Amino acid sequence: MSVNISTGVGTLCFATPFFNASGPLCTTLLELEDLGRSEACAILSKSCTVEPREGNPLPRYADFEGGSINSMGLPNLGYRVYMEMYPYLWRYDKPIISSVSGLSLKDTLLIVREMCGVDELDAIEINLSCPNVVGKPQVAYDFDQTREVLQEVGRICTKPWGVKLPPYFDFVHFEEMAKILNESGVSFVTCINSLGNGLVIDAERECVVIKPKGGFGGVGGRMIKPIGLSNVRKFRELLRSDISIIGVGGIVSGRDVFEYILAGADAVQIGTQLQQEGVSVFARLGRELREVMERKGYSSLGEFKGKLKML
Ligand code: SIN
Repeated sequence: MSVNISTGVGTLCFATPFFNASGPLCTTLLELEDLGRSEACAILSKSCTVEPREGNPLPRYADFEGGSINSMGLPNLGYRVYMEMYPYLWRYDKPIISSVSGLSLKDTLLIVREMCGVDELDAIEINLSCPNVVGKPQVAYDFDQTREVLQEVGRICTKPWGVKLPPYFDFVHFEEMAKILNESGVSFVTCINSLGNGLVIDAERECVVIKPKGGFGGVGGRMIKPIGLSNVRKFRELLRSDISIIGVGGIVSGRDVFEYILAGADAVQIGTQLQQEGVSVFARLGRELREVMERKGYSSLGEFKGKLKML
């Protein structure tokens, strides 16, 4: 049986449903080229700011049983360098997406305006949910500020664009955010970013495991999958049908990808597992997803996308 795992996000066509989260292994040209050569369906560059950033002090990433914790603090090369890289990445013949995380609305608008002039760039993901910059609360937990950012970006952005959201936990918050998104020009929503400000403790050393922010950091990996799934599901119920959803959070296997698509995701991103396994993760996920689909008799993602059954 032939199984087709191609998909689409807005007007972008993807050969497979998985690519990297803007997080690990997407900061330098070498890393982005590795993604280009891999079976990732797109290349997403690390969230960029106007000026280059070293990020937070080391150690700022640690694995633990069930996931990872990080407080990277947006280390990146500055948007101008990424603008110069995109033409080189074009040879890999897959969509190129820029993650933008200005430290102010003015910065975000400056970057978006300039990025829109780069022909080789296909889309922009505005990161409204980084929990790791000291003194900068996550924008997407402030609904008025989010509305303003979306209105202003919508006024100037001439490429397909979307937003990366933090996890929400209450139906009231899903509804309020969905209303703002439905009134905006986003063509996709990426959910979820890491669970902000978790704390992992090494009992032997009686010590935190990362240095920045007193050990507090974004939690990712296997343990956050139920929250990622719930956010995808709820936003699929509430968002306009033309807004695509990219699911992220705790994807380790092809079966996890299947679950996200069943919940309503059009595509998924891989963070912690990419950090742990490297870019070969994408080929493995492809094999495993095809196996699940073959076993269930599905030949395309559309046959089960969003079709989660209720009891
Ligand atoms: C970071 O660089 O701190 C992680 C990015 C994010 O969580 O958005």
